[in-house]
Amino acid sequence: MTQTVTVPLGDRAYDIHIGRRNLHFVKEWLQLRGPRGAAGLITDSNVGPLYADRVRAQIEEAGWRCVVHTMPAGEANKRLDRIEEICGAMLEGGLDRGSVMVALGGGVVGDVAGFAAACFMRGIPCLQVPTTVVAQVDSSVGGKTAVNHPLGKNTIGMFHQPVAVVIDMELLESLPVREVRAGCAEIIKHGVIADAALFAYMEANARNILDGDLDALVYPIARSCEIKAAVVTQDEHELGLRANLNYGHTFGHAIETVSQYSLFLHGEAVSLGMCAAGALGGNLGLVDREFMERQRSCLAAYGLPVRWPELPVSDALAAMKKDKKARSGKLKFIVPERMGAVMQRTDITEEQARAALASLKKED
Ligand code: GLY
Repeated sequence: MTQTVTVPLGDRAYDIHIGRRNLHFVKEWLQLRGPRGAAGLITDSNVGPLYADRVRAQIEEAGWRCVVHTMPAGEANKRLDRIEEICGAMLEGGLDRGSVMVALGGGVVGDVAGFAAACFMRGIPCLQVPTTVVAQVDSSVGGKTAVNHPLGKNTIGMFHQPVAVVIDMELLESLPVREVRAGCAEIIKHGVIADAALFAYMEANARNILDGDLDALVYPIARSCEIKAAVVTQDEHELGLRANLNYGHTFGHAIETVSQYSLFLHGEAVSLGMCAAGALGGNLGLVDREFMERQRSCLAAYGLPVRWPELPVSDALAAMKKDKKARSGKLKFIVPERMGAVMQRTDITEEQARAALASLKKED
């Protein structure tokens, strides 16, 4: 089963290919590109040893020269000096303005390689080959690229849309199940914000997905890409609608910050953040207990955290105020209206945010 989702951004439109054994789309994109040149294959120390040869083969079969750069794995490497290293390796490897970068890895590699492509020679195309569920349904699509600054996550970056996204489901075979679960949080998020049917599918298929049935993941990954593509097409630079994709992220980023990025994977923090956003929606009278329970049960069915009894609420509130999404000190919260629809609110008081966070601490 192969699916293609197009992100219709005019002359920057691109396809997302989702299926098994479909890395040939890398070769086909390069063949169509025209004059053969050098392609930089950026990967990391976890993914490179497993899959770099497969992607390199596609690049070379297209008649392009392949320059591989393997960065150390992990969020701690999402920093500006890694960009300099990548650009240095690409210059040494002879890449020029006609070159292309291929990002092979999870969200860190995608964000770092995407940013390197955005600034190398003032911008060259980047082709994304995401290898985690989170990267497949979120970070590889939509053109956000960034590195972290010690003072804030993703604070140095650019919008640089990829030229294609190739999602080979078989690259998930080596992904630890905890990472699969974390990716499912982002899929469930897409259901809550935009598609009740996708949410219902995730409710019904937790067992298959967690048992490693990759075919059961094709539909929710493709549907997530469609939802994201539709949002990005309407609001590429996050002036309005795109912020809906941040459902659960205002609370989630605060939880990541207070847990020093070591306790929870991003998707796990988003799961907690969605529960807090659900509680906020409940406290505002927008959704009822049934909504909150349904969302919580679905996340819990994927083994995702839905409570954190040790949450230091005041610290999380303080972290939230420093969030890069705050404008003039005002935070935007994405709040559920019903399954499949959310609204943006900038009028949430500190007390309301505190109560939503505190709800994660207690059983009810
Ligand atoms: N991860 C949210 C976005 O791409 O806008």
